[in-house]
Amino acid sequence: MDIKTLYENILSSLRDGIIVIDINKKVTLFNQAAEHLLDLPASQACGKNFDDLPAMDSELRLLIRDTLLTGKTFSSHKRSLLLKNGKTLSLDIATSPLFNQQGDIYGVVIVLRDLTAIKDLEEEIRRKDILASMGSVAAGIAHEIKNPLGSIIGASQLLYEEVKNNPELAEYLKVVIKEAERVNRLIEDLLSLTKPTRLNLKKVNIHEILKNILLLESASSTKIIFQEEYDPSLPEILADREKLTQVFLNLIHNGIEAMSGQGIIKLVTRVSTDYYISRIGPEKRSRPMIVVEIHDQGEGIPEEVIEKLFTPFYTTKPKGVGLGLAISHKIIEEHEGFIKVESKIGKGSIFKVYLPLS
Ligand SMILES: Nc1ncnc2c1ncn2[C@@H]1O[C@H](COP(=O)(O)OP(=O)(O)O)[C@@H](O)[C@H]1O
Ligand SMILES: [Mg+2]
Repeated sequence: MDIKTLYENILSSLRDGIIVIDINKKVTLFNQAAEHLLDLPASQACGKNFDDLPAMDSELRLLIRDTLLTGKTFSSHKRSLLLKNGKTLSLDIATSPLFNQQGDIYGVVIVLRDLTAIKDLEEEIRRKDILASMGSVAAGIAHEIKNPLGSIIGASQLLYEEVKNNPELAEYLKVVIKEAERVNRLIEDLLSLTKPTRLNLKKVNIHEILKNILLLESASSTKIIFQEEYDPSLPEILADREKLTQVFLNLIHNGIEAMSGQGIIKLVTRVSTDYYISRIGPEKRSRPMIVVEIHDQGEGIPEEVIEKLFTPFYTTKPKGVGLGLAISHKIIEEHEGFIKVESKIGKGSIFKVYLPLS
């Protein structure tokens, strides 16, 4: 292997995006990771002025200028870079000078380190930790409660048959049964959160699932307008129909609750090829996924709260339990997908469910 091929191999196998520009900011090198990160083939970047690339923003411009002026390395940590296609990247950026043999600067090396995956990974580990520590306690308690609860519900139902003719007593018993069933559901939820689920995978049509949900929902939520923007070419995917129904129901209910029961819920489906799972390695980075988006016009969620949403028992509702999103997250993760949240205070939120194709 000659030295040039060796260098090229090294550059293309790096995780970090490496871009080299000359003194006039013309791009002379653009490695594979940079292609993935910026969603731009090297053939379209090389030879162009770096200012015209989608990654250019004012801070990066300053870093490059300072490096060209001073011949020093500059860096910026945890910078979010907004690309022209609307994607935001969380990056560490460094710019270093390139010198020729005379010691004159003739270019800049720009290193882009993608932090999105690291951030996601940290978040995932945090969630797993919580679930793991909850798991054993919850499973133990749940078991101890479920059995007597079953007896309470059974006995109350028998008793109800006896006192049916006494409306007052019957009413009390109904409360007992209703509340006991509520606790029972809560425990089922808790168990489903801490135990691995057995998915019943079949080919499913997402639009069919959504339409079924809307059929039921529009009957019960008359002040909600449902808008559907479906991609008609959306392929079927392998998934657990019931579990996905549970997820979308949770998300739609949350949207309705965020709008105090009144407003527009928009459902959007599309195919996405723009998401990269960079920790899998360069060969398998990009993965086509389908996306289901649930848009509401509710109160919105403060930035710092977004990462807490999926924590079990996190709720801001007086009668909330705070398990809906935790369970939804787990179900989607078991489908090898993920959920992204975008929100604007006072405007509304978008929950995006990504599910892998094939
Ligand atoms: N669409 C939304 N708009 C605003 N806040 C939301 C939305 N979805 C979820 N949340 C917040 O996340 C919390 C947790 O949601 P969830 O897990 O479904 O539990 P619950 O609905 O029982 O509170 C909610 O209490 C609310 O504060
Ligand atoms: Mg909920």
